[in-house]
Amino acid sequence: MDRIAIHGGKPLNGRFQVSGAKNAALPLMCAALLTEETLVLHNLPGLEDIKTLSQLLAQHGVIQKDLPDQAEAEGARTVSLATPRLHSATAPYDLVRKMRASVLVLGPLLSRFGQARVSLPGGCAIGARPVDLHLKGLRQMGAEISLEEGYIVAASKGRLKGADITFPVVSVGATENLMCAATLARGTTRLLNAAQEPEVTDLANCLTAMGARISGIGTANLVIEGVEALHGASHRIIPDRIEAASVAMACAATRGRICLAGADPAHMGAVIDTLESAGVRFEAQPDGLHVSCAHLAGADAMTEPYPGFPTDIQAQMMALMTTAEGASMITESIFENRFMHVPELRRMGAAITLHGRSAMIRGGNPLKGAPVMATDLRASMSLIIAGLVAEGETVISRIYHLDRGYARLVEKLAACGADIRRLKD
Ligand code: EPU
Repeated sequence: MDRIAIHGGKPLNGRFQVSGAKNAALPLMCAALLTEETLVLHNLPGLEDIKTLSQLLAQHGVIQKDLPDQAEAEGARTVSLATPRLHSATAPYDLVRKMRASVLVLGPLLSRFGQARVSLPGGCAIGARPVDLHLKGLRQMGAEISLEEGYIVAASKGRLKGADITFPVVSVGATENLMCAATLARGTTRLLNAAQEPEVTDLANCLTAMGARISGIGTANLVIEGVEALHGASHRIIPDRIEAASVAMACAATRGRICLAGADPAHMGAVIDTLESAGVRFEAQPDGLHVSCAHLAGADAMTEPYPGFPTDIQAQMMALMTTAEGASMITESIFENRFMHVPELRRMGAAITLHGRSAMIRGGNPLKGAPVMATDLRASMSLIIAGLVAEGETVISRIYHLDRGYARLVEKLAACGADIRRLKD
């Protein structure tokens, strides 16, 4: 397995091109199942998760082609997806276990083809992550769902029907699955306490371009009037706010100065506010979001659904706060087990104490390079940040997690002055 070696201590400087958002791209690709016409997606990031989903969609019958596009940034793709007919309604265990977001084919398959058989995703490194809200909502829309041999087996006699669905907790995936399902249902669906993440809004905007009737986009109450059929569309995927925030934190940790080309600060409010309170400077300019940091104080953060502080940036924030003057408290309120990076950061000399769902970080202990192990995608990025500031060499193993969600990260950071390289197995 490949590893990443970093020699810390070099400030990040230069221009970093932000990729298309992974968590927007995945549901958008699944939306191609909703129509027999062609959906064209621009700004698709080059990621392992995208490859996995592409394989899954291909076996369902989605024909995918790369289209030449001179306007795309390096590494980004424009892809057409068309599903004239269904090859298989089954999302097999082998692909779903690689990536939980595969469950996002459930709503589209069921609403267009009246059937779906999707492997039940297991727990993962950050928590149990059940899909009960997806299933409950689809049942309310008239689907018959059973669990058989590890598979969700769902069927609908005729079209799904609109329903009023209130989420007891905010779920990005359940909102996306049910919104897709509702576009082709008979009648009106109301999704209350829906997720408001920019990726959900991006999906809603694309579905609207495909002919869906959705109101309340960007709010917690989505109203979807079902239509008989959706048509093709062309859609540009939003920039990855998590990648942008991760690199802003890497820049701040190394006390550097960077331009995040293509970042959208409108999606990064809570992160920018928190980092500004710690002393990081942000300036939106025509060529991108400029980030710099000369001195860093401790700052507290609690993860919350959007527009709150994202859970997907919690691990990176913790690595950053080890470099601050003073103490910080970081509380994880979304996932029950998202502190797997803590023991690894401690191995590098970080002073972090866990109290239930909160972590107390005492900044100012210089980090030292060490061999460390990535445990999940965002934990991997926190170790990269720690490695970029640590004295000496850090070698990170199990970096396949990183390849799932950060496109060409080593090359892009090296171009900004980081001493980082990939060690091939
Ligand atoms: N939940 C339930 N029941 C459900 C669904 C969710 O109890 O049926 C709970 C979860 O266990 C969790 C909370 O609700 O405690 C929120 O989970 P959510 O459904 O919002 O998460 P998700 O849709 O599975 C997406 C992102 C995650 C991100 C979360 C939260 C994608 C593909 N994944 O997951 O991204 O952490 O929303 O913002 O969009 C990542 O990119 O590293 C990543 C894990």
